[in-house]
Amino acid sequence: MKITLTVNGDAYALDIEPRRILADVLREDCELTGTHLGCEHGVCGACTVLVDNAPVRSCLMLAVQCDGKSVRTAEGLAGPDGEPHPVQRAFSAERALQCGFCTPGFLMVAAAALEADPAMGEDPERVHSVVASNICRCTGYEPIRRAIVRASNEMTAPPAR
Ligand code: FES
Ligand code: FES
Repeated sequence: MKITLTVNGDAYALDIEPRRILADVLREDCELTGTHLGCEHGVCGACTVLVDNAPVRSCLMLAVQCDGKSVRTAEGLAGPDGEPHPVQRAFSAERALQCGFCTPGFLMVAAAALEADPAMGEDPERVHSVVASNICRCTGYEPIRRAIVRASNEMTAPPAR
């Protein structure tokens, strides 16, 4: 099937088999390998990307379901000038990654939550629900929690004079 995707602002015209999952098309056809595949059955969240700004497990979504839609991956988090997204800075500052395999998925769920409501970091239950949505085998989750709160604080801070 012929489909068009907008990925991180770039248009892709693709001719793909209908059975292929979005994660594989992003990695193999768009050459965006920042999206990782862990469990491949919707549990770990490593493959999370945003489709029309909503987090989705890209191992469970067929690429053809995204025809005409806008997809954002970890490669699309930084600003046009290469400035890291606040959540990327916060993950680095809080050492919220070790092997890094889960990190793109956590960055995407955290960015979606923070962009929808930058003050969400003030609510421990909402932060917990973001952290609990994905699996990390390394960090113990506490640095990830701190990173989300830190990013929220940065995004809600008054601009420096
Ligand atoms: S690889 Fe998609 S949820 Fe684990
Ligand atoms: S940093 Fe290794 S799985 Fe999360």
